[in-house]
Amino acid sequence: MNPNPFAEGCAWVDGQYIPIGEASVPITDMGFSRSDVTYDVVAVWQGGFFRLEDHLDRFERSCLCLRLAPLLDRDALRTVLFECVRRSGLRDAYVEMIATRGVPRAGERDVRRIRNRSYAYAIPYVWIADPELQETGLPLVIARSTERISSRAVDPKVKNFHWGDLVRGLFEAYDRDAHTAVLLDAAGHVTEGPGFNLFCYYRGTLLTPADGVLEGITRRTVLDLATQEGIPARMALFDAATLAEAEEIFITSTAGGIMPVTTLDGAPVGDGKPGLLTCRLRQRYWDAHTAGPWVTPVDYGA
Ligand SMILES: Cc1ncc(COP(=O)(O)O)c(C=O)c1O
Repeated sequence: MNPNPFAEGCAWVDGQYIPIGEASVPITDMGFSRSDVTYDVVAVWQGGFFRLEDHLDRFERSCLCLRLAPLLDRDALRTVLFECVRRSGLRDAYVEMIATRGVPRAGERDVRRIRNRSYAYAIPYVWIADPELQETGLPLVIARSTERISSRAVDPKVKNFHWGDLVRGLFEAYDRDAHTAVLLDAAGHVTEGPGFNLFCYYRGTLLTPADGVLEGITRRTVLDLATQEGIPARMALFDAATLAEAEEIFITSTAGGIMPVTTLDGAPVGDGKPGLLTCRLRQRYWDAHTAGPWVTPVDYGA
């Protein structure tokens, strides 16, 4: 048995570091009861955070948009994230920071008067599609039974727990023997799926939805790498027909990186194998995790 009590993960709750299995949220926290919450997830890979400052920037923006004032300032939060990883000893980790509206006093209805709460944790790295499945590529469907929640109702740029539409999309994917689903907006534009952004290679250009999506850090990394590699890439609005004609499709997330899609609605994408461009970008993506400007090493101590 591993003697480290944090080996399965380490959480920070109420100023204490505790083993992940013991961490909990008060049942009246409005992050839980009202989805009045934002969060961010950053990866640690081979002992280094990837694009940590970009994740902290996005988290701060999300808190501002929801008028949440988290307990921890940026430096204190960074320290907590490092400490969660250090205590767990995990070299490859999924590291989450959360800000909730908090626990109202009995009868309190004025959300301005509730003290906001912060949580954080590190657990072993999470894959939307594990590396074996990435070798063959994922079956993806375009959800037909569920529309993406309107961005005028819930701003998708603020990372959120309003996953009702995304989970419905997932069940549709399972019912149609696929791994996951991408959702369309009310106008029929392709948006995103449960935990990922999407790219397609269409007529010589890499496209990713311009609007109605989380501004994923992996998405940004793909755009950065495409620039470095001289691959034409842009954000655009496009519909299901464009996706159906694409030569390559991949999805992107901190939880799994760049993941090839090889069937769409049951039909092969391109030749039905992970695309050449997709594989090239995926290689560059993981290379960038071990050295370079986006990596901040964790000091695990002795
Ligand atoms: C809805 C949604 N879109 C996109 C992403 C991908 O964002 P990132 O690349 O920053 O992980 C996520 C990540 O969890 C997500 O939840």
